[in-house]
Parts: sequence; structure tokens; C-alpha cells
Amino acid sequence: MSSYEELKDISREFGSPFYLFDQQAFTRNFNDIRDAFGRRYARVIVGYSYKTNYLPYICQLVRRLGGYAEVVSRLELDLALKIGCQPAEIIFNGPIKSEEDIHLALSSGMILNLDTFRELECVTAYAREHGNKEIKVGLRLNVVLIDDEGKSHLQEALPAGRFGFPAEALDEIALFLRRSPNIRVHSLHAHVSSTSRSLWVFRTIARTLAETGERYFPDTLDYLDMGGGFFGRRAPAMGLIDTPTYDDYADTICAELKKHPWFEARRPHLIIEPGMALVADTMSFVTRVFDVKKIGERRLAVVDGSFYNVKPTMHRRNHPFEIIRKNAKNDEGIREIYSVVGATCMEKDCLLHEIDCGEFGRGDFFRIGNVGAYTLVLTPPFIQPAPAVLVKGAQGYEAIRRRQEFGHFFDCYSMGDPKELSCAMSF
Ligand SMILES: Cc1ncc(COP(=O)(O)O)c(C=O)c1O
Repeated sequence: MSSYEELKDISREFGSPFYLFDQQAFTRNFNDIRDAFGRRYARVIVGYSYKTNYLPYICQLVRRLGGYAEVVSRLELDLALKIGCQPAEIIFNGPIKSEEDIHLALSSGMILNLDTFRELECVTAYAREHGNKEIKVGLRLNVVLIDDEGKSHLQEALPAGRFGFPAEALDEIALFLRRSPNIRVHSLHAHVSSTSRSLWVFRTIARTLAETGERYFPDTLDYLDMGGGFFGRRAPAMGLIDTPTYDDYADTICAELKKHPWFEARRPHLIIEPGMALVADTMSFVTRVFDVKKIGERRLAVVDGSFYNVKPTMHRRNHPFEIIRKNAKNDEGIREIYSVVGATCMEKDCLLHEIDCGEFGRGDFFRIGNVGAYTLVLTPPFIQPAPAVLVKGAQGYEAIRRRQEFGHFFDCYSMGDPKELSCAMSF
């Protein structure tokens, strides 16, 4: 916990609002999830899902902890290479890969999981041109997640997801691959974004991977990749009370896989791709009270951050928070119901809904927790520049991302005079 004076000094030096990254918490999460699986199956690989939070500092930390990079775009791929990841330790997923991306992945030995027939065709053309080389690829499977009660566990309760190859396409793929003897399917991947993040979901994925592996690629697989989508540590303040632990997930997945004699005989590497489960509870957002207002029955704290900084997915749940006051005694008086509203001009820009708290004033700080996942990466540059991200080292706080300046924001725009148009634009 930081004191008022400390936060004031930080905001003077780095600008307000700002994020704080807790490196110890991240390291603990990483080691704990890896060990939970490692205790049950030695050949486990943790591929950190870059999209969840691609602060280069965090990606570098993952590399040092022995994790792989899980990337889904050329942007993320280039970041992984830039920070020194070995190509063999990059898992390249995602629905859009250009021919150039695929050639780069194949020629440098990344774990490339294909999503479509277009990608497969691109790989077979590459394999023809490199007939004397073994070309290793992975396939993403489309796993059906309808339970015994007919309920879909997919996001939006969709009957089927949009990613990967459905089971009914696998015969055709096997036939297709027979014409390219130098292609070897060495990885099966099955990330699913489920709403329940339940053990049933992961048991189903593990079973699908093992059954598909045994049936179609029994002698070539080196990797079974479960994807991400795990809950992180329980957070009662966010309603995460009875959620599965890392040990529960590891138990369920490893027990299911070990039921299959093929898996025990082949012993492929087991990849997991956690994002949220590693990073969500490792960042907090600190924002300063600019004004305190009363409008009708509503009491409002107006702060210099926005809801985009804490929940760009715009859900209404409150994250855990604390108020750091100049005058700590203000917490001891009467309590009121406040909403904490942000710096944009949108009515729905509410960082905390109807919280019950003691008095506070201009200049006090709110620190909002559990904001490490899908915040930085989803925050559009809207009205305000992106805040700094800080980590505490031996010499005090250090920026691992500087606050955006005018130039970072507008340098890619033309500031020139509007064109003289000679004719109307038509489509
Ligand atoms: C392929 C893939 N792997 C891993 C993840 C990480 O998911 P989460 O942050 O829910 O763990 C995602 C997220 O959508 C993904 O698409």
C-alpha cells in the first residue's frame, strides 16, 4: 500500500493518472501455474498470451522466467523477436496471417498453428518449394462446447466458435496433407474463450485434443496446446469466490490426458497459454480526484482517469479499490454513496459504481486493482494520452511505459492544409 505523499510524488514526476505493475505478484503467478502443471506432468510449457497485456517489460519478464511467447499478429510477433525470444519459443496463433508471416514462421521454426484452409494452402505451396525440408505445422481445432444440458459455454452462448478447423474437416485435411509428404503436423491447438472457464470446459478440450491426436496424427505430434482462458487467483471483491485454482485446472487436464494410453506413450509437450490468469491481479490504476459534485441524489467523484483505463470491455462490476486521502481522518466520519466518474465526456464513463465510503476531497487518490488484463491493449487514445506504467525497483519507481505526449499521439497524422478537391469522391 502506498501513502498519499508517495502517490503525490509519483504523479508529479510521471503524470496522473498512472498504473503500477507488481512484478513480484506476476512472478508468483507465473511460477505457481507452471508448477501446478509441472507437478503432474513434467513436459509443460507456459506460453504467455501477449494480447492480454503486451507491455514489453512483462514479455521480457516471461522470457526470463522460461516462458514462451504466444502471439496472434505480426505486431506481437515482431515484439517477441525484438525482445530476444528464440523463434522456437514463439507460438504463432490467430485468424489472420499473411503469406509473408507464414513463410517467416516456417523458415525460422516457430510453432505455427493454422486456422484456415487458406493458411493450409499457403503452407503446402511453401512445402512444395522446399521439398527437401521437413515443414512442421500445427492445427487449431474448433471444439464444440455444448454440455449435457444443451448449454453452450462459448462467449455469447454461441452454438459454435469461429476459430480453427471443425472435427468434420479433419478427414479432408488428412487427405490434403497426404499429397505433401514433407509436411508434418507436430502441434494441435484448441484455445476456447468460454464464459464459464470451468473444469468441464478444460476436460472437454483435453479429451478432444487427445482423441484427435491419436486418431489423425499419432506418430507426429510434439505439442498439445490447451490455449488460455483460465481464472486467476480468487478475488472475492470481484465476485470470484469458488473459481477453480491453478491446481484444479492442472489436475483436471492432466488426469484427462493421462486416461489416453496414446498420450502416455507419446508424451507430447503440454502447452498452456494463460493471459488473464497471470496478469490481471498484477496491475492497479491510480487516479486523482479533480472534483466532488452533487447532482440531485447522485454524489460524484470526478477523476482524471476513465473507465477505459480500468474496464474497456465496459462491464458494470466494481473492481477492488482503496482511497488514499490527504487527511486520513476523513475516512472516520459519515459514509455516503458515491460513483467515481471519469475524464471523458461520456455519461457511462464510470470507474466505480455506487461505492459506500467515507469523505474524501480534491487531490485524494483512488487506487483500483485487478486491471492488468485487457486494459492497456484495449484502451483507445481517446481525449487523453495513455498514462505511464510504473514498477517499483531498488531505486524507487521507474517508468516501464512513459506517459504519452502530444507527439506520440499525433505524429502519424497529417497536419497539412486540406486538399483542393477537383472532383467528388465516388465509391
Ligand atoms: C489463442 C489464445 N490463447 C490465449 C488467450 C488468453 O486468454 P485469457 O486471457 O482468457 O487467459 C487468448 C485470448 O483470447 C487466445 O485467443
